Amino acid sequence: MSDSQFTPRVFSGMQPSGGLTLGNYLGALKRYVEMQNEGTYETIYCMVDLHAITVWQDPAELASKTRELAAAYIAAGVDPEKSILINQSQVPEHTQLAWIFNTVARMGWMQRMTQFKDKAGKNAQNASLGLFAYPALMAADILVYHATHVPVGDDQKQHLELTRDIATKFNHDYGVDFFPITEPVIKGAATRVMSLRDGSKKMSKSDTSDASRINMTDDADTIAKKIRKAKTDPEPLPSEYKGLDDRPEARNLVNIYAALADISVDQVLADHGGAQFGTFKPALAELAVEKLSPIASEMTRLLNDVPEIDRLLARGAEQAREITQPILKKTYEIVGMVGA
Ligand code: TRP
Repeated sequence: MSDSQFTPRVFSGMQPSGGLTLGNYLGALKRYVEMQNEGTYETIYCMVDLHAITVWQDPAELASKTRELAAAYIAAGVDPEKSILINQSQVPEHTQLAWIFNTVARMGWMQRMTQFKDKAGKNAQNASLGLFAYPALMAADILVYHATHVPVGDDQKQHLELTRDIATKFNHDYGVDFFPITEPVIKGAATRVMSLRDGSKKMSKSDTSDASRINMTDDADTIAKKIRKAKTDPEPLPSEYKGLDDRPEARNLVNIYAALADISVDQVLADHGGAQFGTFKPALAELAVEKLSPIASEMTRLLNDVPEIDRLLARGAEQAREITQPILKKTYEIVGMVGA
């Protein structure tokens, strides 16, 4: 089937379950803004509060984290005049389509999801049913807009493949060409930002060591200190990318530099090859502060006006439903639901 029948449309989302890190910013948020500004796509960005509650969330915290994430999106450059900005639970068609997809997805497909296995851990019997069904809701988030492109970090690749499998099976079972086969957009120097303490682990908001990550709300001194203390090796920087093989910590810092500066890794090494970390780290710290502190202060400013954030989200939900209501209605018709 040809995808040209579908409007070029981007959907992506993040969970409002913890503070944002540099990894979320470079791996996803920065790309949201670029795709918004390219002018090629309609863009829809979401706080996935329904996904967050697949593991326990304190209600008051969930609400404040959701607003914080909205503020972070806007502070980083998501413009509510150009993109549709929504909170997932305010657009009920996501959940309604998710139920249909629960009947399309197979147990075997879901059991292969590595994020479920990681999150459920050893005690999978005690994980919520929602955590197991999580990827079907994610497929619904995307397909309820007929989204054609989804920018994500590379840990979400498997969920995107599942989304394509669900669309394909639905189209096949019902004999329609209704859902698009969505393309993941995973690219850039820093789709995988690693821990500052261990270059083999992803930078994560749930790491017990705060020194392992840069939080979007860290102040300039904290950012500089964390970069200064980042684990490295005693060698100077190489002048070619090949020279970073087997040097995961060095490679991570170089990738971060390239992504923050919007230049290639080769360019970073052309500029800094031969430098010791004693000089490269301060340069990286300065760059990080320059890029991140305006975002942090804009977030603080936005969070001083919660009613305004709530107003924007209510408006976003209305705009979103103009797209999702007809798609859900058509899905119900295809499936044979009376009254659709
Ligand atoms: N699962 C994604 C994550 O943890 C969040 C998410 C939910 C998402 N629905 C989505 C991402 C739809 C892209 C598209 O990062």
